[in-house]
Amino acid sequence: MGRSYNIVSIPGDGIGPEVNGAAVKVLKAVSDKYGFEPKITEYKAGGCAIDVFGVPLPGETLEAAAGSDAVLLGAVGGPKWDMIEPEKRPEKALLGLRQGMHLYANLRPAIIHKELSNASPLKDPGKIDLLIVRELTGGIYFGKQGSYESAEKLFDGTSKGKVSFDTESYSEAEIKRILRRGFEFARIRNKKLTVVDKANVLITSRMWRQLAKEMSEEYKDVALDFLYVDNASMQLVARPSSFDVIVTSNMFGDILSDLAGQITGSVGMLPSASLGNPGMPGMFEPIHGSAPDIAGQHKANPIASILSVEMMLRLHLGEKDAADSVSEAVSKTLAQGARTPDIALYGGSDASGNITIVSTEEMTDRIVANLE
Ligand code: IPM
Ligand code: MG
Repeated sequence: MGRSYNIVSIPGDGIGPEVNGAAVKVLKAVSDKYGFEPKITEYKAGGCAIDVFGVPLPGETLEAAAGSDAVLLGAVGGPKWDMIEPEKRPEKALLGLRQGMHLYANLRPAIIHKELSNASPLKDPGKIDLLIVRELTGGIYFGKQGSYESAEKLFDGTSKGKVSFDTESYSEAEIKRILRRGFEFARIRNKKLTVVDKANVLITSRMWRQLAKEMSEEYKDVALDFLYVDNASMQLVARPSSFDVIVTSNMFGDILSDLAGQITGSVGMLPSASLGNPGMPGMFEPIHGSAPDIAGQHKANPIASILSVEMMLRLHLGEKDAADSVSEAVSKTLAQGARTPDIALYGGSDASGNITIVSTEEMTDRIVANLE
């Protein structure tokens, strides 16, 4: 019996189905070449699930995802569901999958592809190749929250009225397991780990720092440093090429990963992986959202989704040769001048200077044709 994997595909909303379709197509093609079998079943989550089941994350979807080897997700959300009560918003599907599958480690690489070297909005970005390791199931995203009427007054006598609160809290165990991922990735990359926090203000951040210092005894080969999140945002713009691995909390990681994505110039190119403990299923998805403004127009860039398949093959399923094949096919296709509209502005590095604007499907087919 050959290698086979149970893959749950969750296309979602907006351009989600288009880019996820591209990912599935590439996965099937590369698996044929490398002799393994993805058994793919499709489930609903997000706005499309609200329309059919009345909830963003149906029980059957979470159950299938948690019982799979890996999940490929497109994107969820859109204006159609913006007015829904908070508990039922499409984004709750994402949070529910992360929490329900215990996907505490979110890996968000930001790199400038050499074929798109002009893509960055920075004048002189240098070589950007960094990895954000974001804690994904704790912190303020999942802390105690609520609202109440307050009888207190502000200093000038104004009644406070309604008060709402969110809480940031982290346990030692949660911090240690994500720091360990950070150290481990730094060790196999360029041996530099930056802990991003707000330790000048937050007690949780001070615990992150303390634990990172203790743990660095085990990782003497990794250079550890610390940055406050405000400074880190500045440094990401000022000297992005000096970063290797960044490890940080859920909310800081959310914010910094958008920033890091943008300085590479092409959010349509960036994949992500969300992992739990070894042996547990992972979830792989593009960093970009559902882009409802271009949904159904065949304009979406499928590369972030396709590179999410690559991350799944490399980091999760141990199919390294197939992963290499996907990343090489993407580079080759870009070098041949194929561009979806979002990356067309950046010119190209093919010898003839020929750039062809292609649809989502055309880009996908060219990548499939370039798989070796
Ligand atoms: C992300 C997104 C989500 C997050 C939203 C959609 C809940 O911004 O994956 O970065 O904040 O985690
Ligand atoms: Mg985000």
